[in-house]
Order: sequence, then structure tokens, then C-alpha cells
Amino acid sequence: MDTTKLAAILDKHDRDPAALLAILQDIQGQENYLPKEDIIKVAQELDVSLARVYSLATFFSSFSLEPRGKHICTVCMGTACHVRGAPKLVDHIRRQFDVPESGTTSDMNLTLETVNCVGACALGPLVILDREYHGNMTSAKLDRVLKPLKQE
Ligand code: FES
Repeated sequence: MDTTKLAAILDKHDRDPAALLAILQDIQGQENYLPKEDIIKVAQELDVSLARVYSLATFFSSFSLEPRGKHICTVCMGTACHVRGAPKLVDHIRRQFDVPESGTTSDMNLTLETVNCVGACALGPLVILDREYHGNMTSAKLDRVLKPLKQE
């Protein structure tokens, strides 16, 4: 992240170590992941241990230490979704976007992830695109939901 942007985030939170989580959320919000250099800088600027910053950054699944795409597509692979066809949906997305499972397209447009049950089993198979839940998913429905991404 640009050093000016990072300084603005730190200043917004008065460089308060108690605001560490909020600072990481702001960085994640702007960059879509937590760059290693920013984690180190945050630890230095707040005078907290690098281990503490990393422990927060790795504890919450909403944080990513790897660069992620502009859009995040999550396919639930929990048992209920799995038996209703989730693996076929993953294959479909992989073929359509030439993206590895748990990976990002080369143009950084889409990140494909899988999770094990998000607690909405009755909607399975479930796909979450940019935090929006799409239940009872089929390949045809998936094409409609993902169509705008193909045109970007
Ligand atoms: S198994 Fe997919 S939401 Fe529970």
C-alpha cells in the first residue's frame, strides 16, 4: 500500500494499538488483502509485536495474506452443498474463468475460494459472490450471476 494511504489509516485511528483490528480491516478494505510490508509497518508504528499483528491477521478468515481478486466467489463445500453438486459448480467456475481452486485469475478479476459450511445448508448448493448469497445454485444460474464479471 502507498505509504501516504497507510499513514492516513494509522492517523485515523490515532496510532492506537487498541485499534489494531480496525486498522487491519481498513487495510484489507482498501487492498483486498494484507500486504506483508504493511503488516510490518503497522507493528512498527503501533509499537506492537509482529507476532501480535500476524496472530490477528491469521485468526480472522476475513483477512487474507495473499493478493485477492476484485471479486471473491466462495463455493460452500460442506456436506449438504457437496451432495447437491457443489464440486460441479467449482469445476464450472474453474473452466469458465481459467482459475485454480482456491486461486485468483491472472488478471486479478476473480478469486475462487471454497469453505466448509456457512450455516445456510437449506440453500445448498450455495455460492457467495462478493458477500451476496446465491442459493440452490446450478451451472445455468451461476452463468447468469457471473456474467457481469466476464464482461469486465
Ligand atoms: S453445507 Fe453449505 S451451507 Fe452448510
